[in-house]
Amino acid sequence: MPLRSIGVFDSGVGGLTVAAALRRRLPSEHLIYLGDLARLPYGTKSAATVERYALQAGKFLAGFDIKMLVVACNTASAHGLAALRAAHPDLPILGVVEAGAEAAARLTKTGGIVVAATEGTCAAEAFPKSLYARRSDIRVLQIPCPLFVALAEEGITEGPLADTVIRHYLAAAFGDHDNDTLVLGCTHFPLLTNALRTALGTKPAFADCAAAVADQAAEVLSVHRLAAPDRSGMLRLLATDSAARFRTLAERLVPDLAGEVERVDL
Ligand code: DGL
Repeated sequence: MPLRSIGVFDSGVGGLTVAAALRRRLPSEHLIYLGDLARLPYGTKSAATVERYALQAGKFLAGFDIKMLVVACNTASAHGLAALRAAHPDLPILGVVEAGAEAAARLTKTGGIVVAATEGTCAAEAFPKSLYARRSDIRVLQIPCPLFVALAEEGITEGPLADTVIRHYLAAAFGDHDNDTLVLGCTHFPLLTNALRTALGTKPAFADCAAAVADQAAEVLSVHRLAAPDRSGMLRLLATDSAARFRTLAERLVPDLAGEVERVDL
């Protein structure tokens, strides 16, 4: 039992930010990461379509006898978490939205929280629901930032183009308002952290869904006595489209995790 892996999936490379956080927090665990490149982006697709994609990814990864599933995509968490839990009642399944909301609710001092996410995550109201369930004294402003996904997938994570796009979406939210916390509500967005800091200054604290879900994963493994013995955990990378492109991007964006990528069909 302790030799089983944790399954992780996202629409593309963004979820590697979650895989990296899991590696840091749980270095002994084996991870199987699935990037559904063939159907990226999830963020502009309907709720029903994303739920279907999430169920297919979950079923595929469950075929590897995983001991836990981490939905490393906010859009898939927003639209698919309930269906995934219903389809796999015995598998612990964690989503990045709940973890990120928990982190943001703890971080804010003024109560002003800005959620940058995909269109789909914003439309699902997943963060506001999760945040208001934790604290009633906060204000939540959601801002869909679809171009951030394209910047990250293209590897344009710093420089004038990234700066312009970030200011276009977010500058007004932190101008004269007392918003003090930014939820990076899409797993692609932490790849833009340096550019976000440059464009927005030091004022907003960033709520990092990746670190938060890694902490939750550690707790759940410990409670269920599923933690791996002390060893060096391995990472297996799977992609539903060009393995070479996925590998190149991973090498550029998350070099510690880059390696052989297997092409799979769901
Ligand atoms: N990384 C995904 C998320 O967290 C979205 C990227 C996409 O649109 O596919 O929401």
